[in-house]
Amino acid sequence: MKSSRIALTVSADQPGPKISRHIFGQFAEHLGACVYDSIWVGADSPIPNVRGIRRDVVDALREIRMPNIRWPGGCFADSYHWRNGIGPRAARPRMRNDTWGQVETNAFGTHEFLDFCQQVDAEPVICGNLGSGTVQEMRDWVEYLNAPTGTILADERAANGHPAPYGVRYWGVGNESWGCGGLMRAEYYADEFRRYATFLGNYEKSRLFRIATGPGVDDFHWTEVMMRECAAPRFNPGVMDGLSLHYYMNGGIPPARVQQRLRATTFNHDEWRTVMAHGWYIDRLIGQHCEIMDRHDPAGRIKLIVDEWGSWYETEPTPAPSPYFQQQTIRDALLSALTFDAFIRHAERVHMANAAQVANVLHSVILTFGAETIRTPTWHAFHLYVPHHDAARLPVSGGEELTMHDDLPYPRVSATASLASDQSITVTLAHTDPTTAVELELNLAGLARNAQATGRMLGATNLTDCNAPDAPNRVASQPWSDFRFENNRLTATLPPASLAAVTFR
Ligand code: AHR
Repeated sequence: MKSSRIALTVSADQPGPKISRHIFGQFAEHLGACVYDSIWVGADSPIPNVRGIRRDVVDALREIRMPNIRWPGGCFADSYHWRNGIGPRAARPRMRNDTWGQVETNAFGTHEFLDFCQQVDAEPVICGNLGSGTVQEMRDWVEYLNAPTGTILADERAANGHPAPYGVRYWGVGNESWGCGGLMRAEYYADEFRRYATFLGNYEKSRLFRIATGPGVDDFHWTEVMMRECAAPRFNPGVMDGLSLHYYMNGGIPPARVQQRLRATTFNHDEWRTVMAHGWYIDRLIGQHCEIMDRHDPAGRIKLIVDEWGSWYETEPTPAPSPYFQQQTIRDALLSALTFDAFIRHAERVHMANAAQVANVLHSVILTFGAETIRTPTWHAFHLYVPHHDAARLPVSGGEELTMHDDLPYPRVSATASLASDQSITVTLAHTDPTTAVELELNLAGLARNAQATGRMLGATNLTDCNAPDAPNRVASQPWSDFRFENNRLTATLPPASLAAVTFR
């Protein structure tokens, strides 16, 4: 029998590790309509744009302070040759994107991507081609991007319109090299990573942060081998800065167990719970990979980079406008919140994460319908977590009642608290029960001042509601003040399936 009341305590005077803003990053691949028609419309488009980059998309991403974006894949990265995407656009080759069975015009290449990053004010994360490329090709791309003028590659960059080095820091050395990136064994990839990473230069102020392909889901052998072979090789102990992890919530763990994927907008309460339970599984997964990393790297130098995560549903019963397009509901907003909370619980090791993918593909914050752009419920979850960016994690205790589903536990109310540099405290509360409200008591222990509380709340009239051009704000966060806050104690009723954020100043 579940209690109708949950009491939580935030220790306001015990700031812990920094919550890296980079865990709120995004991922854009040349897949479906993620890049073309969403980010890139071209300068001649009637859709308002700046140098071909869609203005409403940039505005929406600036509002959630998107800290970084990973590009050009994904699986596509291991068949992408960067030289096809530089120079005069009209002369760029039009070719097959074999990875996703579509035509690639190369109109959106290196300079366009970095212009997009600059417009959004996000850091670029580039994933280089290890699968079908060469060491030379990858090292040349880094020099082209980051070297000061005076060398043939940097001068070519200048001739293409960007004399100043771009200063790209985050660099992926291949993607899913155990799968679409070359079907390699961990032992083989470890050597390849060491070889490629060695030749990638550090130029001027931009020391490269080299990210190795990490495990898919629960491939602990991969993590073990990568940490054993790459955490501190004798002649270059700093060769690996990050190890990636990919985990998609598709309702089956391991993924091979999936008979039929869940659907995005038609689901019952049982399928709701499946998403919560399989979503929260990422907390256990990160913990298990971190145990291995801790053994090989007790100082925590090498970071875990969850550079692909999100929901992955069955294609909608009605034809989707483009491949891997899926709608988002309040269920996905709560899945996002649980995932952020898991990253934050492991803030000592998790430095960056990238939701897959930013627009029109899988777990998107943005959907475009021709000239219309809408913000999904997932966008609103990212928005409510902005105060946690680079803030110090605060301990939260109590309320540890876990719900079980598919033999997997997940929290009924997942809470994250943080202290920002302006001394404000924000608590986010993800209430995962789809049917029953809960009475919440939130105590701020150790807060030595009388604070004012302001809140926002995200909920939905129906669990399956989603935003669309005719109702762009059907599921959108609203100011929330339906609580009492006295003597550093907040009491409120959290509606079923809701996400709240309260800031105390
Ligand atoms: O995000 C879609 C695909 O999922 C990516 O290209 C790949 O890395 C992963 O398997």
